[in-house]
Amino acid sequence: MGQIIVLGLQWGDEGKGKIVDLLCPAFDAVVRYQGGNNAGHTVRFGEAHFALHLVPSGILRPSVTGVLGSGMVIAPDALLEEIEALEARGVDTAGRLLVSERAHTVLPTHRLLDQAREEARGSAKIGTTLRGIGPAYEMKAARCGVRIGDLGSQRLLDVLRQQYQRIAGEITAAGAPAPPKPSSLVATCRAWAEALGDRICDATALLHRWVAEGRQILFEGAQGAMLDLDHGTYPFVTSSSTTAAGACVGAGIAPSAIDGVIGVVKAYTTRVGSGPFPTELGEQDPLLAHLRQRGNELGTTTGRPRRVGWLDAALLRQACTLNGVSALAVTKLDVLDELAELRIATGYRLGDRECTTLPADAAAAEAAEPIYQVFPGWQQTTAGTLCIRDLPSEARAYLDAVERLAGVPIVLLSTGPRREETVLLQHAVLRRLLGHRARDIAER
Ligand code: IMP
Repeated sequence: MGQIIVLGLQWGDEGKGKIVDLLCPAFDAVVRYQGGNNAGHTVRFGEAHFALHLVPSGILRPSVTGVLGSGMVIAPDALLEEIEALEARGVDTAGRLLVSERAHTVLPTHRLLDQAREEARGSAKIGTTLRGIGPAYEMKAARCGVRIGDLGSQRLLDVLRQQYQRIAGEITAAGAPAPPKPSSLVATCRAWAEALGDRICDATALLHRWVAEGRQILFEGAQGAMLDLDHGTYPFVTSSSTTAAGACVGAGIAPSAIDGVIGVVKAYTTRVGSGPFPTELGEQDPLLAHLRQRGNELGTTTGRPRRVGWLDAALLRQACTLNGVSALAVTKLDVLDELAELRIATGYRLGDRECTTLPADAAAAEAAEPIYQVFPGWQQTTAGTLCIRDLPSEARAYLDAVERLAGVPIVLLSTGPRREETVLLQHAVLRRLLGHRARDIAER
C-alpha cells in the first residue's frame, strides 16, 4: 500500500509541485524519475515561495527523503545551485537528498546544442526550455552519455571525446561559438562529483529496499503526459517518458509495486512552446489576457507567457487511460471565478468526421476543431475555499462534469497557490490509495 505516482495530465505546469508537497505527510520519500531542470515546480506556504527545478518537491518537508532517479538528466551545476539556495533558506538537505549514479549528466555542450538547434529551426522551433535536455537524452540513447557515477571516473575523458565528435560540428555549423574541448571539461566534472559526494548512490537498489521495508514512496512526474516522447504531440514533446509507465522505467520500479496514480489537471489548459492545442484561446480573445494574468501563466523555468485555453476533456480522458489514473487533483479552479460562461471540449471535428481522441499526426491535431459543452460561470470567489459545500453550485456542476468526462474521481481541489488553500474530497478514495496515512493529509 502507498507507492503512488503523481503526474501531470496536460502539457505540464498543472501545479504538481503544490500537490506533491501537500501529499508528502503520507510519504517517506519523493522520487523524480525523468526530465531535468526543464521542470519548474512551485510550492507556497504562508509567505514562503519556492521554485524547484531538479530537487523533488517533497524536500520542503523535513521528514521526507528526496531522490533524483536514474531516468533523469541532471545538470550538476544547476543542482548544486538549487541545493545551495535551499540551504540558504534553512532547508537542510544533508543526508536526505540523493542522486542516482545511473542518471545522466547535462553538460554545457548540450545547452549550446539545444540553443543552436532552436535558433536554426527559426519559426519551426519546438520551443524547448534551452536547458540541453534533448541532447543529453540523445547522448544516452547513443550510449555515449556521461552518467552521474562517471563524473569522477577514468573513462570520463573518453566519453567526453565521443560526445565532442558528435556535437561540435553541429554547433559550429549552426553559427554558434565552438564548444569547450573535452579536456577542459574534465576538471569541472571532477569538481561536480566531489561536491555531490555521498549524495551519489545506487538509487535503484535503495528504492527496492525501501519498497521491501514497506516505506511509502511518491514518484513525482515532471512535464505532463501530453509531452511524452512516445505518446505526446510528437515532435512537439520533451525527450523523456512522462507517463506513469515512465515512473517504472525511470525509477527502476516494477509496475506491480505501484498502488495508484494521481493525475493533476488544471481547471483549464495551458501549454508553453509550439505544438497542437485545439482549445487554445486566440491572441485577440480578451479572455486570454484575463486568464494569463489571473493564473500568472508565465513559465516557472523560462518566464515565457504560456498559451491558454479551455479544458480539453477528450485529451484528459485519453491521458487518464494512458496512465491508469486512479484519482484526480484539480488545480487553479479559482482562476475561472470571474467568467460568465465556461467551455469544456468533449471531442473534435476533423473535416466531416468527429472523434474523441487527438490524432497522432501533429498537422492533423492542429486542424482538429474542438466540440464544446458550455457551462454557466459562478462569478463569485472560490479562492481559498476549504470545503466543497462552500463552493457555488455552478462550480460544483463544472467539477462534476470534469469527473464524469474523465471517468475518474476528484480527490483534491486546489483553490489558491498556497498549501493551505485546498479542498479534500472523497476521503475513501484517498484511503484506498494511501492506507491509514491518508489521515496525515487530512490532519495537515
Ligand atoms: P525540452 O524539454 O526543454 O526539450 O522542451 C520540449 C517541450 O517541452 C517544449 O515545448 C517545452 O516548453 C516543454 N516543456 C519542457 N519542460 C516543461 C515543463 O516543465 N512544463 C511545461 N512545458 C515543458
